[in-house]
Amino acid sequence: MPIYEPREDSYLLSEELKKYLIKLKNRKINALDIGTGSGIQAETISEFINKKNITCSDINKEAIEIARKKGFKAVKSDLFSNIKRKFDLIVFNPPYLPKDRHDKKKDTTGGKKGDETILRFLKQSKKHLNQNGKIFLLLSSLTPRANINKELKKHNFKIKKTGRFFASKKQEIFKMKKLSEKKLFFEKLEVWMIN
Ligand SMILES: C[S@@+](CC[C@H](N)C(=O)[O-])C[C@H]1O[C@@H](n2cnc3c(N)ncnc32)[C@H](O)[C@@H]1O
Repeated sequence: MPIYEPREDSYLLSEELKKYLIKLKNRKINALDIGTGSGIQAETISEFINKKNITCSDINKEAIEIARKKGFKAVKSDLFSNIKRKFDLIVFNPPYLPKDRHDKKKDTTGGKKGDETILRFLKQSKKHLNQNGKIFLLLSSLTPRANINKELKKHNFKIKKTGRFFASKKQEIFKMKKLSEKKLFFEKLEVWMIN
């Protein structure tokens, strides 16, 4: 299957990653670029972090071949199915469009409603994150948000109007912060950081 060529969503996420990584004092971290596609996010990360500490993964084997040619470690995996370790940084520009007659491609379709892949990602991602680790996630206004919010609440996240999520049970505070948004003709793109 052809890989996803970088688009507005890719560039928005990449810009936010740059802003975060440039300020990072300890650059000896391990990063995972899930759904790497062309490898744009991994390449952005590699401007700041040694390539050997970056892992790329994708469900599409062509993306894996490309990542390897670019010198990255790469694992073919359905989300975390073949990923056994933890990371300090997890980046995901997910497929988020609802499946319809015109869009059935794995690189853009996030399931019947568009939120299924993101929901599975949220269920699995925390246990692959080191303490103080960060998740960078791209969301779109075209993806239904109700079940995503419900999933976050299940994980002890409580939504506040500021866009922050607080843990209720363990008094451990997890935050979900919107870093940026961009209005396009037919959708609004958002980059979120979860930690
Ligand atoms: C919107 S593209 C993003 C590509 C690239 N990261 C970027 O920012 O341009 C989504 C990527 O996720 C991959 N993908 C879709 N479902 C996946 C899954 N269940 N597990 C891993 N990767 C998946 C697709 O093959 C595609 O490469």
